[in-house]
Amino acid sequence: MIYIKLIFIYSSYSHVNHEIKVKDFFLRNLIQHILFLFFCFESTLIDAKNFAQSIHNQEMIKHGKNVYRQRCTGCHGEKGDGKGPAAIFLNPKPRDFTKGIFKFSSTPYDALPTDQDLMRTLTQGIYGTSMPSFSLIPEVSRLSLVEYIKTFSDVWKKQENYQAPLKGDVFPLQDFKNFNKFVKRAKKGRTIFIEQCTICHGIQGKGDGEGSEGLEDDWENPIKPANLTKAFIKSGKSVESIYRVLLSGIAGTPMPSFYEAISNKDMWDVSAYVLYLRGHSQGLYGNKNPIKPITKAELE
Ligand code: HEC
Ligand code: HEC
Repeated sequence: MIYIKLIFIYSSYSHVNHEIKVKDFFLRNLIQHILFLFFCFESTLIDAKNFAQSIHNQEMIKHGKNVYRQRCTGCHGEKGDGKGPAAIFLNPKPRDFTKGIFKFSSTPYDALPTDQDLMRTLTQGIYGTSMPSFSLIPEVSRLSLVEYIKTFSDVWKKQENYQAPLKGDVFPLQDFKNFNKFVKRAKKGRTIFIEQCTICHGIQGKGDGEGSEGLEDDWENPIKPANLTKAFIKSGKSVESIYRVLLSGIAGTPMPSFYEAISNKDMWDVSAYVLYLRGHSQGLYGNKNPIKPITKAELE
């Protein structure tokens, strides 16, 4: 293709005799042809890249399938339907990948998680559940597992299910390093917590609010609001993981996204309060207790 085009360039100049015209013509055409060649070449490159990418993907899926068969079928089942032999003994149940719903993501509630989200889950596991950490298997195997998991459901083939991660507000690290600033933020967060969270998580944050009874997840299993006074939540140990949960919610469960209801900035205050509840129940603040517990009267 490129070769033919070169012959064409050569022949188009050889027929022009007039000197001035030749210069003009030459320049204009040279630019056109360079551009043309560039695009020919680039599209060949893109094709080659797509081809390489698809081979690479197939290889990843093949490798992912092998690792999955060794390490995941016991719980998630060979067909990815969450019905492995161990599943009947487990609560919560292993994820059914054929539904294409994932809890822990940085994207809006209804959107699919990013590869990084799935990698985080595989690497750190899901605290307090039987889902183990796979941080000790090679990274390439974890990446391959991510690709393989996507083959269980067609939701991954539809562009409309993908959305960019929600960014939120920059992490105010200094406020979390300084105890007084942290308490100030947590006090503000306490007010929002009364309005938005006690209904499910209860006044002490133990997951026993009025609305906590009879809740079900999208897989039709009963579910309780998290006990926020425990040393861990499922999605991670850091305050950033609390913030991510508030931004995105937990898909497939009644835990909503507060992206619209609470400003991105104030969400750090609520996150600080949740972190405070955790620290308080672990005896981190000794007798200091700088924040008063919520009373029933405050709910009215
Ligand atoms: C001992 C049982 C067990 C094994 C083995 C196991 N998982 Fe899980 N996995 C679970 C449970 C239970 C959950 C659901 C936890 C929940 O809903 O809170 C889960 C959830 C998940 C999720 C969903 C995360 C989300 O955002 O919803 C992914 C992805 C996952 N597992 C991948 C894997 C892969 C890949 C393997 C093998 C390398 C594996 N699991 C091995 C028990 C297991
Ligand atoms: C409609 C009920 C409901 C409301 C309102 C609600 N939550 Fe939740 N929340 C849940 C449920 C249910 C879960 C458990 C999800 C699971 O275990 O998979 C949960 C889980 C969580 C988790 C733990 C997530 C994890 O990774 O384990 C945090 C943190 C949390 N909620 C914070 C809040 C805060 C803060 C508010 C208020 C701004 C709030 N929730 C409002 C129902 C609710």
